[in-house]
This record gives sequence, structure tokens and C-alpha cells, in this order.
Amino acid sequence: MRIFTVLSTTVLLCGVAAFGQTKLAATPPMGWNSWNHFAGRVTDADVRSAADMMVSTGMRDAGYVYVNVDDTWQGERDAQGVLHPNKRFPDMKALGDYIHSKGLKFGIYSSPGAKTCGKYAGSLDHEAQDAKMYADWGVDFLKYDLCSFEDNMKKVQAEHPDDPEAANKLMIAAYRKMGDALKATGRPILYSLCQYGVAQPWTWGPGLGANMWRTTDDIDDTYGRMIAIGFSQAGLAKYAGPGHWNDPDMLEVGNGGMTTDEYKTHMSLWVILAAPLLAGNDLSKMSEVDKNILMNKDAIAIDQDVLGRQGDRLFQSGDLDVWTKPLSGGRVAVGMFNRSWSNREVTVDLAQIGFKDGANVRDVWKGKDLGRRTGVVRDWLPKHGATLLIVGK
Ligand code: GAL
Repeated sequence: MRIFTVLSTTVLLCGVAAFGQTKLAATPPMGWNSWNHFAGRVTDADVRSAADMMVSTGMRDAGYVYVNVDDTWQGERDAQGVLHPNKRFPDMKALGDYIHSKGLKFGIYSSPGAKTCGKYAGSLDHEAQDAKMYADWGVDFLKYDLCSFEDNMKKVQAEHPDDPEAANKLMIAAYRKMGDALKATGRPILYSLCQYGVAQPWTWGPGLGANMWRTTDDIDDTYGRMIAIGFSQAGLAKYAGPGHWNDPDMLEVGNGGMTTDEYKTHMSLWVILAAPLLAGNDLSKMSEVDKNILMNKDAIAIDQDVLGRQGDRLFQSGDLDVWTKPLSGGRVAVGMFNRSWSNREVTVDLAQIGFKDGANVRDVWKGKDLGRRTGVVRDWLPKHGATLLIVGK
């Protein structure tokens, strides 16, 4: 059981993110991660061919630049404590060089615990040593996943029944330790916290140099799980901004468990949320539909808008939801969602989102300018469908 205690209000957002932190993730990070498709089977060859296909599919040029190796690359530590990769990853530095040679960035995965979630070696008591090794390998991104560190938290909580925050304090200190170790390497390494939203990481993540932090437990390739995560993000917008982002987990677009309309809902919601966009599909089997969703220029532009503002819910009425995200140039992105099992009409009043004299409206998924509109904009959405609009003067 993952611990979902809420940190007391005494732990506050620790000031403005440092300049380097902002520069590293001025807009939400974009890339590809091995987990959602390969899980524990991933090999060096898979990652190299993913890097090739990030280029050949157009993903890199659409902005997806990180190629992240998730859990299960690790082997054993030697007598000096140096962690070696396992047989499936013969040479991590060479893999990093290969990824870089394609104009991409190299991401890796570890845990503050002794073991990762896949029961491979974590970084506990080897933080500085591992961080230095990542820097030597040319790593650009670290996903740091709580996993077995939850055992340490339970233990300390049992030892300190008088202090309800004992476990959370230990966890935050562990995340700070790796954050400091990464900084000490001198190499800019994007720091991604993965601890499923435990103790509201949006309140303390930025203060320890994190560029993104998971807000929930894992996504899976089902509509039910995806919307449960996506719509639970209401109210978190104020914690995100250039350099530090809420992460509702990686994308499942293209993995086959949802319909096209459901994947459009997934992408629409994630870009309205200014979420990191980490694709998790099999790049060798990308259909035109997957490409059109993942590489839609307008959708990506909403996510990557320079203002760096996360969107939030405007209103909900039964199974209908309308969310808005402020964009640069006084524009607003609008996501309209139909969570019901039948076609439904969804409306948004332009006056309610700041355009009482009307506005120019672009429909992102139709790829069409709808021209000048005033008053209420309506659309019929299929079951589980979404409309994504860009509205501006
Ligand atoms: C989970 C994490 C997943 C993946 C997996 C690997 O805890 O949320 O995204 O990294 O561990 O074992």
C-alpha cells in the first residue's frame, strides 16, 4: 500500500525555482519512455531503435527529445559500490552517445530505496556515486521512483508515532539528497520525482530542484484510469510553471487500449494540464492516427506555450467538463470533454472566458479555423470524445 498522507501546511513551497531549474524545463518536458510499452523487457537495442524511430517518425522534430530508459537496466554493485548495468545494457555511455548523436537527450531511472519497483538496485546510500556516474554517461534526465523507500518510511513512522510527519520528512530528505547530488555533478540533469503524489510534492518539489513530480499513482492504457487521473488534477494549476511541472504520468496514446476519441481526450487533457508529454508507445507500429494525435502541432503548442500556465476546470455538468488554459498573446485554450456513453452537445460561453465581444476560434482536432464567433460556441462530441479549441482576439 502506498502511503498517501498529507503533509502539514508547515512545509511550504520553498521560494521561486532557481534559474538553472527553469532553464532546464522552461516548458513541460517532452520525450519517450520505455516503460509503458516494454516494461521489464527493455534492451539496449530497443532503446537505440526507439531513438532511430524518434527521428524517422518525426517525433523528435515535433519536440519529443528525451529518450528515457525506465526501470530494469540495472545490474549489480561491485566492491567499490559502483553500479553496473545488466546484460541487456552492455554500455550505458555508448548508449547515451548514440542517443545524443541523433539530436536527442538521454534519460535514466532509479529509486531512493535499496530496490526499484522492479526489484533492481536502487540508489540508497549511493546517491552521489550514482549521480556522478549518470553525469559521466551523459544522462540528461533522472526519474527517481519511491518504490522500496516506502519500507524505510513505514519503519521510521513506527519508531516515531508521536510525529505524524516522520515518514514524509524522511522521504523529502531522500529526494533532496539526490537533488543535491545531481546539482553537485555540474551537469544539467532534469529531475523527475515519481512518488505518486505522496505528501503533495507540488508544495515541496520545486524547493529541492525538482522539474516535475508525479501527482498520482500509475496510469494504465484504459479510458477509466486515464480520466480518473486527468480530471483529478483540478486545483493544481497554481503549483506548475516554467521549470517545475505537475506530472499526471506518461502518455498511453498508441498502445491500443483506448479508442481514437479516447486518445484524443487523453492528449487534450494532458496539453490543457501543461503536463510533461512522455510518449510510451511502440514507435515501430505508429499508425497515422497515433501520429496525428501525438504530433498535432496546435495541441503541442498549447502544452508548450511560453506562459507556462497549467489549465484548470471551468465547469463540470454531469458527464460534461470544460477546462481552460491561458495562453500567450491573450489567447485561451479550451478543452471540452464528454465522459458519457452517448453523443452529447457541449457548449462554452466566450464571454465567460474573457471574450465578451467575440473571438477567433480554431478547432485543433479538425485542424480548422472556425472564424469569428460571439456568444456560445457549441459542438457535438461523440462518447468519450473531446474538442480542443484555441480562442483569441
Ligand atoms: C512505477 C512507476 C512507473 C514505472 C515502474 C517501473 O512505480 O510509476 O512509471 O517507472 O514503477 O518499475
